[in-house]
Amino acid sequence: MGFQVIRFKNEEIIADIDNVIKTINDSIMKPTTSSPLGGDKRGVCLKIAVLAGDGIGPEIMEQGVKVMSAVCEKYGHEVSYKEAICGAHAIDEVGDPFPEETFQTCMEADAVLFASVGDPKFDNNPNAKVRPEQGLLAMRKKLGLFANIRPVETFDCLIHKSPLKDELVRGADFICIRELTGGMYFGEKKEGTDVAYDTNYYTRKEVERILRVAYQYAMQRRKHLTVVDKANVLASSRLWRAVAQEIAPQYPEVTTDYMYVDNAAMRMIQEPTFFDVMVTENTFGDILTDEGSCITGSMGLLPSASTGEHTPVFEPIHGSWPQAKGLNIANPLAQILSVAMLFEYFDLKAEGALIREAVNASLDANVRTPEIQVEGGAKYGTKEVGEWIVNYINNKK
Ligand code: IPM
Ligand code: MG
Repeated sequence: MGFQVIRFKNEEIIADIDNVIKTINDSIMKPTTSSPLGGDKRGVCLKIAVLAGDGIGPEIMEQGVKVMSAVCEKYGHEVSYKEAICGAHAIDEVGDPFPEETFQTCMEADAVLFASVGDPKFDNNPNAKVRPEQGLLAMRKKLGLFANIRPVETFDCLIHKSPLKDELVRGADFICIRELTGGMYFGEKKEGTDVAYDTNYYTRKEVERILRVAYQYAMQRRKHLTVVDKANVLASSRLWRAVAQEIAPQYPEVTTDYMYVDNAAMRMIQEPTFFDVMVTENTFGDILTDEGSCITGSMGLLPSASTGEHTPVFEPIHGSWPQAKGLNIANPLAQILSVAMLFEYFDLKAEGALIREAVNASLDANVRTPEIQVEGGAKYGTKEVGEWIVNYINNKK
């Protein structure tokens, strides 16, 4: 099921939540006039901050940028890119995984296209003072990206790759809305040699704004929201549930149900088609979205968007796969689909749809990277898949 990444501003959310919701609704409902290619806008200028990061990041980013440029050219939009460093290579270069200059580049852009960060040299060193992942967390916090939108969609031609039975996973199509700037990731911490803790800190405001985002998605889709928590044990979850119960009556068309996170983890593999929109706190969302990505059989195909107070960020949900760096084998589709989400965010729906069409066509034509290639099929690398998609877009009449 298609959907649009919802646009909103945090200051407005705090000041006047009802009005913001109305604005969101208006922008979703806006009629589109048709043009030969189906797009209703021309000459949009987009400034994109490009954060390719580590591992396979630069290779997949190259494809994402190529596709973005091809679509802009096709629809008469202007796009400019500014690269900025982050992650492990930023630590190597300037000692900071999200340097101030990168932050400024993000703030000045309309959107950030992000690939991946992480390097094994930090993974097994608990004493490392600074880690690539801190760059990602700093970016989320500084850009106020409290809403992480992670769609879990199946591609029919890849269902056989799912570890679940075909009949269970076919038709699974849900979105996880993960709160991204609160909870244990950012709450008070202590890291001693004998005692250590992380605090799962949430305020009513933080819970309410993410729930409202989730309700907006539910309203656009099958009107079913599952609030995932651990309210039988955790105080923070009881706040989540109380706030959800307070605001649920404001969305009478939406069926709201509440599920403990352990049960949700189970239900996702027993009956993934049960879910439509799920909303949850930061850590639960981290765990459940990895589970979600692998049940579809296509981790390399899932994009995500993070939105909130400042510039939105679009990125694949997978990591930096350092072992594959430079081998031209990484799947660029999640990055390319992140570009589709970016267009959709700016209400450029035809542009997003063309990318989705091109991606589906590449899969149907068996133009696939090795991990999803059919047996005996021709071998395509990261670059070749990207080029095929660009050609498809260029030749589309
Ligand atoms: C994710 C990742 C990050 C997270 C890591 C890399 C810090 O797993 O985006 O899901 O835990 O949020
Ligand atoms: Mg994760």
